[in-house]
Amino acid sequence: MTEQDFSVPLDAPKYYRPDPSYREQSWIGDYEEAYQRFIADPDGFWRERAAEIEWFEPFDRVMEWDFPYARWFLNGKLNITHNCLDRHVQKGRANKVALFWRGEQGEEKAYTYSQLLRNVSAFANALKRMGVKKGDRVCIYMPVVPEQVIAMLACARIGAVHSVVFGGFGVNALNQRIRDSGSKVVITSDVSMRRGKEIQLKPIVEEAVVNAPSVEAIIVHRRGTPMVELHSEIELDFYELLERESNYCEPESMDAEDPLFLLYTSGTTGSPKGIIHACGGYAVGTQYTTKYVLDVKEDDVYWCTADPGWITGHSYVVYGPLLNGATVFFTETTPDFPDHGIWWKLIRDYGVSIFYTAPTAIRMFMRVGEQWSDRYDLSSLRVLASVGEPLNPEAFEWFYHHIGKDRCPIVDTWWQTETGMHMITTMVGEPMRPGFAGKPIPGVVADVVDMDGRSVEAGNGGFLAIKRPWPSMLRTVYNDDERYRKYWTTLDSLYTATDLAVKGHDGNIMVIGRADDLIIVAGHNIGTAEVESALVSHEAVAEAAVIGVPDPVKGNQIKAFAILKDGYAGSDRLKSDLRYHVRMTVGPIAMPGEIEFVDSLPKTRSGKIVRRVLRAKELGMDPGDTSTLED
Ligand code: WT7
Repeated sequence: MTEQDFSVPLDAPKYYRPDPSYREQSWIGDYEEAYQRFIADPDGFWRERAAEIEWFEPFDRVMEWDFPYARWFLNGKLNITHNCLDRHVQKGRANKVALFWRGEQGEEKAYTYSQLLRNVSAFANALKRMGVKKGDRVCIYMPVVPEQVIAMLACARIGAVHSVVFGGFGVNALNQRIRDSGSKVVITSDVSMRRGKEIQLKPIVEEAVVNAPSVEAIIVHRRGTPMVELHSEIELDFYELLERESNYCEPESMDAEDPLFLLYTSGTTGSPKGIIHACGGYAVGTQYTTKYVLDVKEDDVYWCTADPGWITGHSYVVYGPLLNGATVFFTETTPDFPDHGIWWKLIRDYGVSIFYTAPTAIRMFMRVGEQWSDRYDLSSLRVLASVGEPLNPEAFEWFYHHIGKDRCPIVDTWWQTETGMHMITTMVGEPMRPGFAGKPIPGVVADVVDMDGRSVEAGNGGFLAIKRPWPSMLRTVYNDDERYRKYWTTLDSLYTATDLAVKGHDGNIMVIGRADDLIIVAGHNIGTAEVESALVSHEAVAEAAVIGVPDPVKGNQIKAFAILKDGYAGSDRLKSDLRYHVRMTVGPIAMPGEIEFVDSLPKTRSGKIVRRVLRAKELGMDPGDTSTLED
């Protein structure tokens, strides 16, 4: 990899500098100073962060590193929901709004901290009565509604391990996740709303629990009209359960290292990985980063557009903001319905001051033009943030000028499902360099390294690595510790992010993209293996390979190559059949944009498909070394 490979010139950096008042008033203050304080005493740094939440019993050590396993806040006892709810109710925020929610049809709901505590408690009591115990897994498959957040927090209240599955996944994807986690209960809604239409979720759940013997009950949050009927004995109504319970539930005292949740992320081969996060470290990491990276203050109205079904939603819609006692706005509304002005209207109507979204959304708004955002007064905005994929300089500049009005800092946060919290960014108040995510935050030691784990010189590219454990790091991969170990053994005892990056001369890091066969489409991480196995499960397909090709809005698009079985002819009809098949099995996010029927696929002698060659051919690039290919 050389400098010439990247569109951002490394030698002539261009910076945007926020008004000095941002730094003066931010929680972090001077970044360099804060970073040096961390380096001088890492344990002391994290001890201070851990003191920002409440513990039922104090921990006796900050961290113990037994490669590749770290334990944080040893023997400390806590409950994250005590910190998200009770603590605020006790300390003057009882009547502060915790959640503002807006539905697609314009319906609105608000929960104060005390109301949210009562709802979470009652639902936690209901789960308990059903026999859900500490350590049991509960699958949550819901749209973006307050009940989704209540379900998550209720699990955490009693120590059950939630496994939230994004409501846009299809039958196979859900079935696989229910089975791998051994979920005892599945919580769902009858429908999700999408651009004015009801999308039925319950039939997907009904199919997905076949061959999932661990499931004892399905709880249905009924919101559609007419109200769906509950058929079998194992189906229960969300509100009937909640309403007959008392509205206080004692929080379970959890060890810092007890699992809080598992969340599946795509793997490069085979099945998705159930990433496990631990109670103590996750609470400290998300409390810290929400406060210091997003700079959340008492009077902010905070909106992160992610679905709670992804890690961004776990950390920065639900846990992080509530740990900080913030007012969270969230919505089921897509950015283009009823028109492209809706999100800007919501910012104005709710007085949103911190707005956290994804490059794919920004590029979509850029394409439709600023006439939509120009219609609304966006002066409430104070901080903008981005996540999910590289924020290209054009999108940075559009966001900065048209939404932030050349005033709001943009915090481009690099992190992963596995890291649980932000790792690399430009902190509020620091000079921003478009195209570059920024520098490691205090608490994190990150670097760009070569294949042997050696630090590359400034101006060069390599692999993004993390050199020191951090509290909210994944603890293992559920049922597959070998896959966990690979994160730490691929690059000589460093944590590999499997991302390619460039180290700037100013210490800023530019993240380029994945170094493996994951494709990031509209900020969603999609495993080639999942899409390929969906394709070959169709009766017409013998073999399939998928690659990512650049897309101006989504970042990448999926292109599929398929070899048909004898007796099947490639037609447009079959293409749309295949797209529909992937939609139903994996979900709409994984649908190939393009399908090409081919007679053969490039393979290694051992039979592994070499997607790199397909990709090079598609983009008219040099395929590189093909000497190991079959023919
Ligand atoms: C991958 C992780 C946790 C955020 C949501 C996605 C890419 C994420 C950035 C960024 C460049 C980014 C990386 C990473 N990514 N944020 N700010 N700049 N790339 O979580 O599904 O676990 O995906 O998303 O490639 O490895 P995820």
